[in-house]
Amino acid sequence: MQLVWTTDPHFDHVDADEFDRWFADVASRSPDGIIITGDLSEGDDVFVQLRRLASSFTIPIYFVLGNHDFYKSSIGKTRQRAVSLTRDQTHLHYLTDIGPIQLSEGVYLVGEDGWGDATIGNYEASPIRLGDFEQIDDFRMATSNQRKSLLQQQGADSAERLRTKLLSVPQNAKEVLIATHIPPFAEACWYEGRTTDEYWAPFFVCGSIGQMLMDACLARPECNWTVLCGHTHHDGVAKLAENLTVYTGAAQYGHPAIEAIIEVEPNRAALVR
Ligand SMILES: [Fe+2]
Ligand SMILES: [Fe+2]
Repeated sequence: MQLVWTTDPHFDHVDADEFDRWFADVASRSPDGIIITGDLSEGDDVFVQLRRLASSFTIPIYFVLGNHDFYKSSIGKTRQRAVSLTRDQTHLHYLTDIGPIQLSEGVYLVGEDGWGDATIGNYEASPIRLGDFEQIDDFRMATSNQRKSLLQQQGADSAERLRTKLLSVPQNAKEVLIATHIPPFAEACWYEGRTTDEYWAPFFVCGSIGQMLMDACLARPECNWTVLCGHTHHDGVAKLAENLTVYTGAAQYGHPAIEAIIEVEPNRAALVR
């Protein structure tokens, strides 16, 4: 089977011609499913776009949400709306809400939104102020210290949900694909061919997920762990351990693209760019 991976499509910046071009590109590969690693749109339009995807494709669409998807609302309300939507659109699969999906014998897909969780880099000295802090209800009234705790809590909650899912992947699994929005390691947080500095890292790395993944992959050396993420809009590959590789996808506002094709066979998956 083949899956198409797209990240950060930001469909609210995409005109009808560009959407049609992306749709035709995806359809021409005749994939068996699509993986979208977050930042579909912003606010109410996230759900307009998810419905549009559901009516455009008949194959399963596996997605997580990115930070932009929570704009003009709260994290909790947005996740709840995504869960509700997937209850009536049965080929939409919100990976944050569900357990491992078996793609083939020994090959599983899991996912989690993730969050830039202020655990890596130098939060206190960073001059970076993300739009998130004005646009997402959870952060709007928070002081810098409160914001740091909120970010760390989001990361910890994400890591715990993902850990629970990984524990339920059968012991005979040989390949686990992990879809998430935020790079889990500074080494996977690419920008123009270089990795993040200490000022961007607090907002562009989900360190809690990274730590949990490292423990998980070391505990199961016979299984290969492949992470697909986005958020930086710049691509790169980072090998964190013999059995743990992180692919970060590129994106350009207004021009959604196919990041890679994932070829799934029994007990293995290969990413073709
Ligand atoms: Fe994005
Ligand atoms: Fe993002």
